[in-house]
Amino acid sequence: MVKGKVVGIISIKGGVGKTTSVINLAHVLAQDFGKKVAVVDANFSSPNISLHLGNVNARSSIHDLLSGKLKANEVLHKHELGFDVIPGAAGNSIHSTNNYMKLRERMQGLKNNYDVILVDSSPTLNEEILATITAADELYVMSTPDLPTLSTTLRAVKLAKDKKMNINGMILNKVRGKNYELKAADMERLSGVPLVGVIKDNVRVLEALSKVKPMTKLNPNSGVSLEYKNIASKIIGEPAKKLSWHAKALGYLKDDFTNLTTHKFSKGLSYYK
Ligand SMILES: Nc1ncnc2c1ncn2[C@@H]1O[C@H](COP(=O)(O)OP(=O)(O)OP(=O)(O)O)[C@@H](O)[C@H]1O
Ligand SMILES: [Mg+2]
Repeated sequence: MVKGKVVGIISIKGGVGKTTSVINLAHVLAQDFGKKVAVVDANFSSPNISLHLGNVNARSSIHDLLSGKLKANEVLHKHELGFDVIPGAAGNSIHSTNNYMKLRERMQGLKNNYDVILVDSSPTLNEEILATITAADELYVMSTPDLPTLSTTLRAVKLAKDKKMNINGMILNKVRGKNYELKAADMERLSGVPLVGVIKDNVRVLEALSKVKPMTKLNPNSGVSLEYKNIASKIIGEPAKKLSWHAKALGYLKDDFTNLTTHKFSKGLSYYK
């Protein structure tokens, strides 16, 4: 019996937080929910899962799997965070072999061994993103609360529909809670996709990246991490653990409060001079 499902995280805009979300979700699904998780870098021309995770031995990559040169177990790399990774071939980003659409076929076998296979998609509107859309059993679209990103989110929803795929949910990222931002309810209404999570803009996420660790590892109780746990719980349909108020308060002080004080917007560009 097939055990797992392929979950694609998409957007037709770069930099909205797909890779960040994939590694944070993979970490909490493995550590907090005890799931067997694989992460697949399907951002074929600009793979960067390894840059977010570090320590990924990339002697073999997704390209070897797509070309049929290697089998799935030969391209899976164990990561110390508790999940397995099929990396992209970093530094070798132009691939003449056009095997992207083989992704679906190649993922099928993995479903026997993993509960969740998280696919980090490319934002490029060609076969790169279509590979993830057609390989996935479930799709989540990442967006930020601004008009240009919303317009690409609507295109992603349409693209999925054209391929007879439903988008299960929208993850809204880098939210500052300012009145110039689009409202979550409006994003939901205009896209027709239910919101499954709202993640705050937090400088600590950038710090986490510089330490090649997910935020959920650095501070498991920060607002960002707790939201990733809620999203993970929705993806697998299992309740998230309740946190005591003092653990929440400590998490807030460590990251969310520090975020407010370290943003130092008042300094402006003088920082770069
Ligand atoms: N909640 C957040 N708060 C602050 N910064 C964030 C947040 N989420 C992601 N970022 C930062 O935004 C940048 C882009 O994130 P990421 O690489 O995950 O985007 P992406 O959608 O995968 O981009 P691409 O399509 O180019 O692969 C990174 O520097 C990341 O640390
Ligand atoms: Mg990415």
